[in-house]
Amino acid sequence: MTPETETILVTGASGQIGSELVPALRKLYGNDKVIASDVARPSPALENSGPFEKLDVTSRQEIGQLVQRYRVKVIYHLAAILSATGEKFPQKAWEVNINGLYNILEASRELGVRQVFCPSSIAVFGPATPRVNTPQDTVLSPTTIYGVTKVAGEHLCDYYVRKYNLDVRGCRFPGIISNETLPGGGTTDYAVAIFYEAIINRRYTCFLKPETRLPMMYMPDCLKSIIELMAADFSRLKHHSNFNVTAMSFSAAELAAEIKKHLPDFEVDYRPDFRQAIADSWPESIDDSAAREEWGWKPDYDLAAMTADMLRVLVEKQRQGRLEYP
Ligand code: SER
Repeated sequence: MTPETETILVTGASGQIGSELVPALRKLYGNDKVIASDVARPSPALENSGPFEKLDVTSRQEIGQLVQRYRVKVIYHLAAILSATGEKFPQKAWEVNINGLYNILEASRELGVRQVFCPSSIAVFGPATPRVNTPQDTVLSPTTIYGVTKVAGEHLCDYYVRKYNLDVRGCRFPGIISNETLPGGGTTDYAVAIFYEAIINRRYTCFLKPETRLPMMYMPDCLKSIIELMAADFSRLKHHSNFNVTAMSFSAAELAAEIKKHLPDFEVDYRPDFRQAIADSWPESIDDSAAREEWGWKPDYDLAAMTADMLRVLVEKQRQGRLEYP
């Protein structure tokens, strides 16, 4: 467990996961102990609840200055370019995902950071990987630049564990479904957009085919996995930066049918775009038994529970006039 006095830095704090991880960490460790950082402007909620610093992770110097100024001991490194944006800007994806991570690890090594969390992704897998119940230790031959950076990132993190005794940990996240901040530039983003469109328009045009099945997780489980993995006894871990985690798997049509149980007039049509090929290269379902054995991973939300909660939260936001969707 992180002692209360340690200062925590979160990169990518304005993003989908960061905007919910920062409040969760602030609740656990104190508002002033959690430094939120991002290249993008934070939400007012994030800015008003504790320190926020503008940080470009491709600058080793900027990271070093922040780590020293706040005597940072723990870093949650969430800043990254996701799969769909990565295919549009591969060089940028490499720059942020690889050089950014390298800068974080080097700053950690040189400046006495104790622990680093870096998320990986189901994007590390590719067409040659078994697609159903994908094992923990298996073929990693991704076809996207995002996947390439995540495979290299996992290896780099594990190298720092072995070579420098730096405590680096990470999960391979599936699609993350949430209702605070929209995801940006991912292939699994449809599973968030569909809820907003269902509530606002009662219609959604999906960019994946109806039968496309992917592993997914609701944000409360995502936050739980991060906090529990970081608190786990290091000596029990056989893996470090690459834990398979999952909570549910569904196809686009199955998600639409689940939403229809609550909103019977909801209609979906399907117009697959370039993201279909990305989804087709990823697993349908994940074996997360290593995470369950090594640090007690267990999700709380399945498809029905997640759908009910998403609709409850978003309908309430709409009622209060706070539902923002581009
Ligand atoms: N949600 C991510 C994406 O779609 C996967 O890690 O890119």
